Amino acid sequence: MQIPAAGLLLTLIVLSPSCARRVEAPGTTPADGMAPTWNMRAPRVIEASKALVVSGSPLASAVGRDILRQGGNAVDAAVAVGFALAVVHPEAGNIGGGGFMVIRLADGRVQTLDYRETAPGRASRDMYLSAAPEASVTGHLSAGVPGAVAGLTEAHRRFGRLAFSTVIAPAIGLAYDGFLVDEYRSSSIGEDSARLVLFPASRATFLPNDRPPETGSTFRQPELGATLEAVRDSGAAGFYRGRVADLIVAEMVRGHGLIDHDDLNRYRAIWRNPIEISYRGHTIYSMPPASSGGVTMGEILNIMEGYDPLPAFGTAALMHREAEAMRRAFTDRNRHLGDPGFVNNPVQRLLSKDYAAELRQQIGEQASVTPRFETGAGGGSSTTHYSVVDADGNAVSCTTTLNNSYGSAVTVTGAGFLLNDEMDDFATSPGEPNMYGLVQGEANAIAPGKRMLSAMTPSIVLDREKQLYMIVGTPGGPKIITMVYHVISNVIDHRMPLPEAVRAPRTHHQALPDSLQIEGGGFLPATLDSLEGKGHGLWSREPWGDVEAIVRTSQGWQGVTDPRRGGGGAGY
Ligand code: GLY
Repeated sequence: MQIPAAGLLLTLIVLSPSCARRVEAPGTTPADGMAPTWNMRAPRVIEASKALVVSGSPLASAVGRDILRQGGNAVDAAVAVGFALAVVHPEAGNIGGGGFMVIRLADGRVQTLDYRETAPGRASRDMYLSAAPEASVTGHLSAGVPGAVAGLTEAHRRFGRLAFSTVIAPAIGLAYDGFLVDEYRSSSIGEDSARLVLFPASRATFLPNDRPPETGSTFRQPELGATLEAVRDSGAAGFYRGRVADLIVAEMVRGHGLIDHDDLNRYRAIWRNPIEISYRGHTIYSMPPASSGGVTMGEILNIMEGYDPLPAFGTAALMHREAEAMRRAFTDRNRHLGDPGFVNNPVQRLLSKDYAAELRQQIGEQASVTPRFETGAGGGSSTTHYSVVDADGNAVSCTTTLNNSYGSAVTVTGAGFLLNDEMDDFATSPGEPNMYGLVQGEANAIAPGKRMLSAMTPSIVLDREKQLYMIVGTPGGPKIITMVYHVISNVIDHRMPLPEAVRAPRTHHQALPDSLQIEGGGFLPATLDSLEGKGHGLWSREPWGDVEAIVRTSQGWQGVTDPRRGGGGAGY
């Protein structure tokens, strides 16, 4: 584990006015804050008086804004953005993957929708042990049964206001008419071209002339347009039955994958009650299993709530406590959590304040060691998040994914969309780390029809008066959980304006590997020395994540899109 000489990376700091102010938590000593080497640019900020969408793609956000202007509610807009992202942000936006949606209606009702992929019926616990290396991340065998179309159509059926054909129309238009490729999306396809070129339909779709579409070129996807038309005309049946289903199954036969017609017929999105966390008077709603996001973040928040006052941002005292809280929460996650259809998740116990107090008691001034547990048995993550609020105050927080960037890299021939590689989110190889380095247990072992454990953490925060305050989420594999924690804590505890909370350098601990990951250049060398003195192995990484968040202001809403990637917002 190596730390670059942060002090040698001296660069001019680019700060927005809102980032120029260092904010200290009340009752703490002055914060060390961010290092002068933290040269992350200022986030894009969008103000809107009534309604707002932020997402990983400016085009998709504009689609959501237009649906809101046409009288659609936040769920209509979220469904429209979900389909649009499948067209304009193909690294992660999808109809061949899955996701999670947290919905809070203006009347206070909260529901979550789980449209996570499932293991095919012919999948088995040890199927990857004898398979080719990489079989769980690239190629046909890595794909779970897609959930996105079932999820988006179900969300619309239950809560949508506009006709479904209206909501999906912009995505169909973008697929047929094309859109202008920006620099971010051109280089993103370029980065994964070595995987995409392996599969003829992916090569034909994403590498015209064997090169990624150039910045400024128009990118058309007529086969995807026809698939979306089938969904427009027949709803979920247009995907899980008929021509599109036949094409998926034919693709599986071609590449020795496992998804068959029975798997597609059986797939259902599931409504679940949210995880509810109280934190310093605020209420946070997030995703229950099959995502670990809400429970794991709740455990971290509960432990941290007991430190009052909290040490200031950027201090070793804070980062040490956070690392130890994260270590414990991830140990529980990796050991206990899995698809609730298969596993008894001890959610109540893990989220109790008493349990958090017990864990806090264990945290001393030195780093502890992650206990190995009975398991019983690299890649670039690309998920994407969007947040929506409408003029009535309905809110949607939605995270969706193919897992890896461009998922399995397999495009369904004739249907124009990528399949996920979500099978790698299971404990695919007992005791071995997955793509994210997570070492997980029997609760997340593969079984037919089971949902693989996710880390996606779409969240909605209420203020002390129980009014809608913030909508937040991000891609980033297991780091999703700690990023959403950081943004919430930066705003509530460190009183940062949202742009600064999103821009601030991040840390992450996931129990195993037993190291504290930090965004390089973000923290002072003296702080890092002090953390090493406490026994933390430090791992300096490139910046991570793509937080897409909205916060209530006195004028309406402020949207912030992460400067680390290429998102954008739109509102009115
Ligand atoms: N595929 C990343 C996650 O669901 O956590």
